[in-house]
Amino acid sequence: MEIDYPLVLTGFGLRNMKKVQIKTVKGFNEVLPPESFRWRQVEDKFRNLLEGYGFAELRLALLEPTELFARSIGGETDIVEKEMYTFIDRSERSLTLRPEGTASVVRAYNQYSLGKSNEINKLYYIGPMFRYERPQKGRYRQFHQLGAEVFGEESFYQDAETLVMLAQLFHTLSIKGVELHLNSLGCEACRPLFRDQLKDYLSRHQAGLCDDCRRRGAENPLRALDCKNPQCREAVAEAPSIGDALCCDCRQHFAGLCALLADAGIAFQINPRLVRGLDYYTRTTFEFLAGDLGAQNAVAAGGRYDRLVEELGGQPTPAFGFAVGFERLMMLVGSEVAPLTLPVAALLPLSEEALRRLFPLHVELNRRAQMTTLSFQHKSLKSQLKKADKDGVRYALIVGPDELAQDEALCRNMRTKEQTKLPFAEIGEFLWERYHEH
Ligand code: HAM
Repeated sequence: MEIDYPLVLTGFGLRNMKKVQIKTVKGFNEVLPPESFRWRQVEDKFRNLLEGYGFAELRLALLEPTELFARSIGGETDIVEKEMYTFIDRSERSLTLRPEGTASVVRAYNQYSLGKSNEINKLYYIGPMFRYERPQKGRYRQFHQLGAEVFGEESFYQDAETLVMLAQLFHTLSIKGVELHLNSLGCEACRPLFRDQLKDYLSRHQAGLCDDCRRRGAENPLRALDCKNPQCREAVAEAPSIGDALCCDCRQHFAGLCALLADAGIAFQINPRLVRGLDYYTRTTFEFLAGDLGAQNAVAAGGRYDRLVEELGGQPTPAFGFAVGFERLMMLVGSEVAPLTLPVAALLPLSEEALRRLFPLHVELNRRAQMTTLSFQHKSLKSQLKKADKDGVRYALIVGPDELAQDEALCRNMRTKEQTKLPFAEIGEFLWERYHEH
């Protein structure tokens, strides 16, 4: 690629560059304040909820050997075929920015032998994922997930507990109207039979399929079931249903899960077309859909993957997990999240000396909690009051020469405009009490 401005390297810096405004890469979602505060509040709720259920956080590499995703997500999936940010590094290795978290968690589970210390391991993660998809509302190339994985438990009680926990997350965030769609994809015993039935059906309906589904038909016929192409949807409308092909154990697992969810009062719909865009699933798959999100309506998704740990070189270990799309979750949260706690007071110095006197007080107070703002410019009282009003503080503590001489501040209630004198020695306690009145 040609660079259209002269680059002259001098010393350690770049000089004589034409002024250019560099922007983010298309589709890379960033979170700015005040939105970042809302994100953190939601993140805290997620952490509290999961840690209450015994999950611990993993912070993993963003870059992985490409092979990890090709093996786990599957070579014939959209993610691996078209959406990964893959490049060859300076040591000629093929590396990929993680498109999802599960493969990395399993890699870590095996690499650090996490299963050895505990029979069941519950791990969660929060962070960016990267997929080269067509950006639109709710779909980005860098997006964020809140995810969790449980290892070592094959019981459907685990599936149910995790789904109840997710439903609780939506409830805690006052999100309504989220629908749980559920399916079972069977296991090694019954899925091959279903695949054969489906392959047979697809070979008889080739003409109605899109190029991708036709090409993948032999290797990965299940893909056709969740292809978004309207032509394919029509072609598979009469296709065999996985529900009819499940073996006895898979049937019992699914029925057990459905019964537990019903008992817990969690509404769900069984959707036999729900095969998901990743190949590692066995038995349960699910999506939480929200009509308010428009076209990109899955706010969370996941399922069981009892073979993946072994396929990636570990001991046979059943597993279940999910990921919530953070951006989509935030679209649903609305303004229900508690408002930010604003500083209680603005400290308004009217001279350099007053600023000097107030600075240590300001630092000391904010060590405990964000209680004050301080103007470093000692501008006119009028402009400082205007700013304090805009910042939404409840008090302004004004300090001019007279107040300095008296060792006190003029305390103005921003709502009532009432003004009283407050000795410096009492400011800390006064604000601390008001802080707790929030
Ligand atoms: P996934 O369905 O590919 O599953 O993604 C999970 C969620 O991430 C989606 O439901 C959606 O909310 C969000 N998401 C996916 N792609 C984008 C995008 N381009 N822009 C914005 N949000 C997006 C997984 O990733 C699995 N690892 C889930 C899992 C965990 N299964 C088992 N354990």
